[in-house]
Amino acid sequence: MDEVIKILVVCSNQEFSIVVRDLLGAKENYSVNFVMSREKALEISRQNIFDVVLLQLDDPDSSSKDFINELKRLDPNCIIIALIEDSRLSESRELIRWGVYDFISKPVNHEAFFLLIKKGAQLHSLSTTDYKIILGLKEHGSSLEKQNILLASRIEESTKNLSRLYEDLRSTYMRTIRVLAQAIDARDHYTHSHSRNVAAYAVVIAREMGFSVQEIENIREACELHDLGKIGISDAILTKEGSLNEEEWKKIKTHPVNGAKILEPLIFLKDVIELIRQHHEHYDGSGYPEGRKGEDILLGARIIHLADAYESMRSARSYRKVPLTKEEAVMEIKRNSGTQFDPKVVGVFLRILDRLVPVEI
Ligand SMILES: [Fe+2]
Ligand SMILES: [Fe+2]
Repeated sequence: MDEVIKILVVCSNQEFSIVVRDLLGAKENYSVNFVMSREKALEISRQNIFDVVLLQLDDPDSSSKDFINELKRLDPNCIIIALIEDSRLSESRELIRWGVYDFISKPVNHEAFFLLIKKGAQLHSLSTTDYKIILGLKEHGSSLEKQNILLASRIEESTKNLSRLYEDLRSTYMRTIRVLAQAIDARDHYTHSHSRNVAAYAVVIAREMGFSVQEIENIREACELHDLGKIGISDAILTKEGSLNEEEWKKIKTHPVNGAKILEPLIFLKDVIELIRQHHEHYDGSGYPEGRKGEDILLGARIIHLADAYESMRSARSYRKVPLTKEEAVMEIKRNSGTQFDPKVVGVFLRILDRLVPVEI
């Protein structure tokens, strides 16, 4: 260590002082401050950092401990070497506990004395460097933490804005699609409120069956849009008064898949789209488009299918000007329970029949 070693000597003992002064005075790279009192030592320590403090401790007591604590407070890495009388060597362990780095007793061994100062100064330099690094890291850490908090709040704000925008966009989309679906219902004056009635019935059944709020909402949306795929079917087929031929039926049967295709780009309607695709599947597998069977058909789609059929029976149609009575429609549903309709859904339907009221137009 070629740098200057800064030493503070706190010594009121004349004899000891002379020995130390003679020893240190002979060294070139030592910068030494001598003080007689502890008050003076603290005063000078407030202005300076010393590599080593040589502290004469003839009679260590609690005030000595306080003094050591104060030196450590001013410089947490402070290296204190105690100068003690030979007779007090037994107390050295206590001094180490107080924070003293090491001690020197009389008669002073010169070699040991300088070695100890050198070691102490090296340790002080290392500790101070480490301390600065730790302080720097702490400071860096706390500024990183501040940045993270700021970043987190910005992300939160952006997410809120995005979700608000998303909700706006979603409801705009839904409004447009609903209008489109209603326009399709309106193409045939017999079916102008069909989709809304199907929704009203299916929601009551789904609620009775214990569906969650979100599932019920999906069913409602699927009902409102279930015949959207009819957009590609001509009025001549949709409003035909007589029965449909094979070719015309083929066309009609494309509407669940066409509806699903139209809505497919709207990822937020994923669950709704699947209900639409399956709303003409029959419990016994005789339905379309895929001929799905039983539990393989979404329960929501089985509900929509029944609500759709019941609504159609209870309304006038181009091919059947007089609607079925409630009793006739119920009879028809019962007759097809287990084949066209899921018996479980039929059971619930029969139980809540009185609560199925068409929407006001
Ligand atoms: Fe349909
Ligand atoms: Fe329908």
